[in-house]
Order: sequence, then C-alpha cells, then structure tokens
Amino acid sequence: MGQRDVQEKTVPGRGAVVLALRRYVRELLRLRRLALPALLLPAVGNIGIRYVAPLLIAKLAGRAADGDGLTLASALPYVLGFGAVLLLAEAVWRVGQHCLNRVDALGMEHLYVIGMDELFARDAAFFHDNFAGSLTKRVLSFGRRFEDFVDTVTYRIVGSLVPLVFGAVVLWRYEPLLVVGLLGMIGLTVAGATPLIRRRQRLVNDREAAVARVSGHVADSLMNMETIRAFAAERREAGEHRRRVAESRRLTLRSWDYGNLRVDTLVAPMSVLTNVLGLVVALAFGGPGLGVEGIVVAFTYYSNATQIMFEFNQIYRRLESSMTEAAQFTELLLDPPTVLDPAEPEPLAPQGTGVRFEAVTFAHAGAKPIFRGLDLDVPGGARIGLVGRSGGGKTTLTRLLLRMADLDAGRVLIGGQDISRLRQTDLRSLIAYVPQDPAMFHRSLRENIVFARPGATDAEIRAAAEAAHVTEFAEQLPDGFDTLVGERGVKLSGGQRQRVALARALLRDAPILLLDEATSALDSESELLVQDALWRLMEGRTALVVAHRLSTVAGMDRLVVLDHGRVVEQGTHAELLAAGGAYARLWRHQSGGFLAEDESEDQDQDEDEDVNGQGREREGAGPAGPSVQPGPPEASAASDRR
Ligand SMILES: Nc1ncnc2c1ncn2[C@@H]1O[C@H](COP(=O)(O)OP(=O)(O)OP(=O)(O)O)[C@@H](O)[C@H]1O
Ligand SMILES: [Mg+2]
Repeated sequence: MGQRDVQEKTVPGRGAVVLALRRYVRELLRLRRLALPALLLPAVGNIGIRYVAPLLIAKLAGRAADGDGLTLASALPYVLGFGAVLLLAEAVWRVGQHCLNRVDALGMEHLYVIGMDELFARDAAFFHDNFAGSLTKRVLSFGRRFEDFVDTVTYRIVGSLVPLVFGAVVLWRYEPLLVVGLLGMIGLTVAGATPLIRRRQRLVNDREAAVARVSGHVADSLMNMETIRAFAAERREAGEHRRRVAESRRLTLRSWDYGNLRVDTLVAPMSVLTNVLGLVVALAFGGPGLGVEGIVVAFTYYSNATQIMFEFNQIYRRLESSMTEAAQFTELLLDPPTVLDPAEPEPLAPQGTGVRFEAVTFAHAGAKPIFRGLDLDVPGGARIGLVGRSGGGKTTLTRLLLRMADLDAGRVLIGGQDISRLRQTDLRSLIAYVPQDPAMFHRSLRENIVFARPGATDAEIRAAAEAAHVTEFAEQLPDGFDTLVGERGVKLSGGQRQRVALARALLRDAPILLLDEATSALDSESELLVQDALWRLMEGRTALVVAHRLSTVAGMDRLVVLDHGRVVEQGTHAELLAAGGAYARLWRHQSGGFLAEDESEDQDQDEDEDVNGQGREREGAGPAGPSVQPGPPEASAASDRR
C-alpha cells in the first residue's frame, strides 16, 4: 500500500516545475558561451533556408513574369545566390549543432553530478520514504531531459520565432496587411488552443501517474522476486502488471486523442485559413504593384510561418513532458534536507571518547516518540551491552549517535562535544559501525571491505579479513577477494555479510565501536571466533554493543536494558542476575529455553506485555542455546575471552 501511496504522488506541482526550469536555465547561463551560438545559429540557418532562399526564387519568378525575357545569364546571379544562401545556412547550422552538442553533453554531465550531490545530502529518513528504483529514474531523468529541453527551445522555439520575425519584416515591405493577417491568425490560434492544452494537462497528469504505477510495481516485483517464487505468485503478479499496463495504455491514449482530436482539430483549420488569407490579401490588397514576386513571397512565407501553429502543440507537449520528468526530481528538493552540517561547525576536539545521551527525546517521522528524556552515560573506554526486547529502540539509539536523524530535544555528546555542532564527516570518523542488517555494494569483496578506509594497504585489508574470519569463506569463492557479491550482497550468506561488515569495522579503526547485532547471524562457534577479534578491538575503545543473544554481551563492563525507549535496568551481568528483574528473566529464557509458571505470571503483570517480543527473543537465542549454560557470567564464553 505504501508503494502505491508514494507512486500516486509522482505528478509534481507547479513549484517543482518552476524549480526544474530554474535549474535548466541556470545551466544555460553557466554554459552561455556555447549556449548563445547553439540557440541562435540554427535560427539563422532557418532564416536562410526558409525565407532568404524563397525570396530569391520569388524575385526570379517576378522577373520571369515581367516579360523582359529571362536569360540564363540574367538568372545566374539568382541561381548562384540561391546556392550560396543554402550552403551558408547549412554551414551555420552545422556550427550551431556543434555548439548544441556540447551544451547538451556538458549540461547533462553537470546535472547528473549535482543531482546525485543533492541525494547524498539527504538524511536517512528520506531514503526510507523513497524507493531506490524511483530515485534512480528521477535523478537520471533530471539530467537526461535537459537535452530534450534545450533541443526543443533551440529548434522549435528560437528556431521558429526568430525566422518569423525576419519573415514579418520582409512581408511588411511588400504589404503591411500581410504581417497583420499572419500575426493576427497566429495569435488567435494560440489563444484558442491554450485553454484546450491546459485542459489536456489534467489528462497528462493522470497518464503520468499511471505510468508511475507501472514502474513502481515493476520495481517492487523485481525486488521481491524470491518471495514471488516462494509463494508461486508469478501469475498473480503478472496479472497485476497487465492490469496496470492496460490502465496506463488507456490513459495514454486518452491524453493523445485529446491532443489529436481536440487541439489539432482547432489548429489545422486555422492554419489552412491563414494560408488562404495570405493569398487573398496578396491578391486583393497587393494589387498590381505586388506582382508575381509578392504573391510567391506571401505564399511561401505564410506556409512556412503556419508551420509554427502545428508545432505549437508539439512544442508544448515536448516541453511539458521533459519538464514534468525533471520536476519529479526537483520536487524532492522542495523540502530541504533536515540533517545538516552547522553553519559554523566546531573543530573536532573531543575530550576522550565518552558518549552521553542527555534528556534525549526522539520520534520517527509521523510516529509517537520512542525516547522521552532518555539519559545514558557511556564513559570513555567502557564496553556497554545494550539489550532488550525487539522494537525497544536499540537500533534507533545507535543511529542517533551516528546522527542519522536529529533529536526532537536533548543532546548527544561525544567527549563533551555536542554531535550536532560537528561536521557529519568528523562525527562519523570517530565511529566504526556495524549495522543490524549490513548491505553490501555490488562490488568485489575486497572493495566492500576497503570501503571503510580507502587508503588501506593490502596487508591491512588481509589482517582485518583474517580477524573477522572473512578469509575462510573468501578463499572458497570463485574469484576469492575479487568475487562480486551481488546486489546488496545477495551472493553471500547472512553470516558472511556480517563478517564482511565486521572486517570493515576492524579496518576503520575508529575510537568508538558501535555494533548492532553484529554477530547475530553467526553460529555460536563462529561467533566465539569473531568475538576474539572484537574483544581485542575493544581494548582502549568505547564500545556500544547491541545483542539479543545475551551471551554475546554478558561479559561487558555494563549492561543496559532498554524497553519501550526507557532504560529499565543497568549493571553488570552478575548484578542484574542478582536483581532478578527483566534481564534475569531474559537470561533464564535464553539459557533454559522454557518459561516456568511463576515467570509467565510475572509476564502477565508487565505493562504492555508483548508475547511476540518474547517469542522473538527466544528465536534469537536459538543457536546460542547449547553453548550457554544457565548461571553466572564466568560460565559464558564471552567473559572467558576477557
Ligand atoms: N524508519 C523508521 N520509521 C518509523 N518507525 C521506525 C523506523 N525505524 C524504526 N521504527 C520504529 O521504532 C521502534 C524501535 O525500533 P528499533 O529498530 O530501534 O528497535 P530495536 O530495539 O533495534 O529492535 P530489534 O531488536 O528488533 O532490532 C520500532 O517500533 C520501530 O517500528
Ligand atoms: Mg535493532
């Protein structure tokens, strides 16, 4: 449903169209040295071809009709002039085209770059609300449509209007009424067609929305192909696709038909009428003085000029479709990015690496606050385990430390510095982060690891890969570390992806470690091996480690139990077990794997009890079960490693 909602809104508003237009015009101004000849030279060429050359022919016809007897010798200057004008016009055209090619190419290049820069500046929430497929299409169209825009302006608008002015000046010299008639008819046609074209806009919007619904569904189906296969839903999805394509065809035809049947049925007779009017004026008012020459000029100029009437609809349609597509991108820019670098960022000078959350209040957009005045102190060098029910806010807390979103109230401090006062790159240089669901680039395994520190040497990459136990499976892959891992890393198992993410964190070598379920997809044995490396890495660093599998964090300096966005308990594993509260209960569930009677009664009394949440905890604990004995922390493998 969300997909549909977002796709429904793809018809951009006026503000977005204006912004797109401003961006394109700005591009033309930036490239003005090329853009000026690119815009004008084809128009000059058109003057030669459409107006000067016929003028010579008209003069020739005029002389032939004079009865003086046209000889080859007396016609020669006209013939040579005719050839020279066409040749020159052709040359001017070529130069104009040469400049235009450069304007198109350089403009598109720049727009592709700034379009992507705009997306890089967006915060995480933006990417939760917009689909990658749709953003790809929009940002690329924003660049590509510049070509259509400039070509239409050059060939259709400037290329028609400038010659029209020239034609009007020439006609004026023959008979001013010819000019009045021509411009009057063009004006009337434009005035009559404009409301029709405006009305067509609504049909075009419907059509664009239908096209967007098709592409939204295609992207959604392709991304969920595994699920479609697993549920044998190919036919159902294909049926939905057919339905959407048919709807798009219906609305496309409706808008095209309106153009053909309503707009052009007005324009076509008007253009015929104009041509006839030109002849009548030339014959009736020109009188004998105008002669054959004048009649030929009037006829050819009128028929050339009335082309613009037909083109008016085309021009509108082309500009409209390129601007609509460009505006689908610029409408994303109407809301400025929220997570911004401060105007005057503080230089990075943290006093230690302690982390403090002070009275933090935060709500995801449109949701109820998840944290209300949360306080949490992580002294520099401390290793803190963050545990609690699914949905309790652990991941959100780690993302706030990274400033993936801004707080509604309160502050987050690192080494005494408010993170919102720092440059985002400075802040993030302090943190090595392993997300809960690490995604990979469709690049080689090596590139995925070195992403954390581009300058790293081969030896450093190897060491990180070794410590995170990546080497073991990398060597089994067809091209070793050069193997491409597939979109989002689909060619790796969940546990392998986690190990790559850990290798990144190891290579990052930052003073604060932020691990969100970093080892949850590993079997217990692999986890023990990887944790070895992690414990070494935590030496001298501040670590915030989120885990469902309690054995992972039982040996930490302090455990923080988070529930419904509140810290409900804090202490060491032993202290919390002794306290017999929420943590103790979780620990017993995971190690014992069953609920005793008194515990289930306890649960019933808990406010907002979430049986599903408990169920998930146990699921998460599954693989750890055999390796964790109920009892004191000494029994846990993790604490052995200390
Ligand atoms: N981008 C988002 N937009 C809106 N709500 C969100 C978003 N991300 C998370 N939430 C909501 O915030 C709450 C906390 O989510 P969070 O991911 O922080 O929980 P968690 O403790 O990490 O859970 P888990 O143990 O399952 O990983 C959940 O109710 C979730 O639905
Ligand atoms: Mg989480």
